[in-house]
Amino acid sequence: MSYAKITGTGGYLPPRIVTNDELAADLATRGIETSDTWIVERTGIRQRHIADAGVTTSMLATRAAQAAIDNAGLTAQDIDLIIVATSTPDFIFPSTACLVQANLGAVGGPAFDVQAVCSGFVYALVTADALIQAGRARHAVVIGAEVFSGILDWSDRGTCVLFGDGAGAVVLSASDTPGIVGAKLNADGSQMGILCAAGSVANGHVTGDPFLRMDGQAVFKLAVHALVRSAHEVCEQAGIDLDEIDWMVPHQANIRILNFISRKLGIPDDKVIITLDKHANTSAASVPLALDVAHRDGRIRPGHLVLLQGVGGGFTWGSVLARM
Ligand code: ACO
Repeated sequence: MSYAKITGTGGYLPPRIVTNDELAADLATRGIETSDTWIVERTGIRQRHIADAGVTTSMLATRAAQAAIDNAGLTAQDIDLIIVATSTPDFIFPSTACLVQANLGAVGGPAFDVQAVCSGFVYALVTADALIQAGRARHAVVIGAEVFSGILDWSDRGTCVLFGDGAGAVVLSASDTPGIVGAKLNADGSQMGILCAAGSVANGHVTGDPFLRMDGQAVFKLAVHALVRSAHEVCEQAGIDLDEIDWMVPHQANIRILNFISRKLGIPDDKVIITLDKHANTSAASVPLALDVAHRDGRIRPGHLVLLQGVGGGFTWGSVLARM
């Protein structure tokens, strides 16, 4: 049986940066009050990248995927599996993964989307790992990509300040040596109401509420407990001690959530990759974007053991231990 290893990473952020001050000034024109101080103190976010009108998730995903393929030293023709994690697909169908496949010119292998909101990338990575281990693919591109700005209610200051747009990707390749050494996925659908965008399309019309709604405090409580438990479970399953972890790459939701989790796990702050100050919460894109930043700047190196963690709507959560 083959193992699966991350052999390349890539990321892409739309060029337009909106700082907290710029966002606060824009919201003020509509009578909505917020401030850089409030946003930084409660979340750690200082700015976000926002896609221009007409820019879609598949466009961001394609740029991130190509960067990961280049980083792996491969070409699009080597790719025989594409999985996109997204909650903001271009279309109802076809999947965003099929659009990316066509853009890359890598047609032939399977391509499909995974929907697990902010846990989506971790879910997609575990799916690709299983297919590679089963011998059904050799080089997968696993992408997390979102244009979350399109599902935000820009009159709800409790949510619209938290998110940004972007895409991150990895190439996961068959390997003779272990790469993905542990994985644990979970969901609790009974908690669906605390974070959802409960709209749908029927008879040509949007029904329900298509904007993201969140009970922030309920999400906070569930997220911290789920991720602390998940980290213990994945390490136990893999026979690894928490202090063997070189880097933690968590979903970039909120600095207070990340600090709480790393302290509970005894992982020092300087081993936690943080990008939310610059990217905000990019949902399924946040983990692969953070991984790419730390991989490219040389912090995450070959041989390092990385704990990737996602948590989000559903309610879903999961952890992956990856030996780079
Ligand atoms: N600017 C100024 N004031 C605000 C803003 C804002 N952007 N948003 C809310 N407030 C106000 C509220 O109206 C409220 O005012 P009131 O006391 O007069 O009623 C006050 O701030 C406190 O509101 P809370 O919602 O209680 O604020 P809280 O301290 O819980 O912080 C936050 C809100 C940041 C969302 C927090 O609950 C949180 O971090 N939750 C975790 C959820 C999260 O990170 N979600 C990201 C998406 S989910 C995911 O990725 C897993």
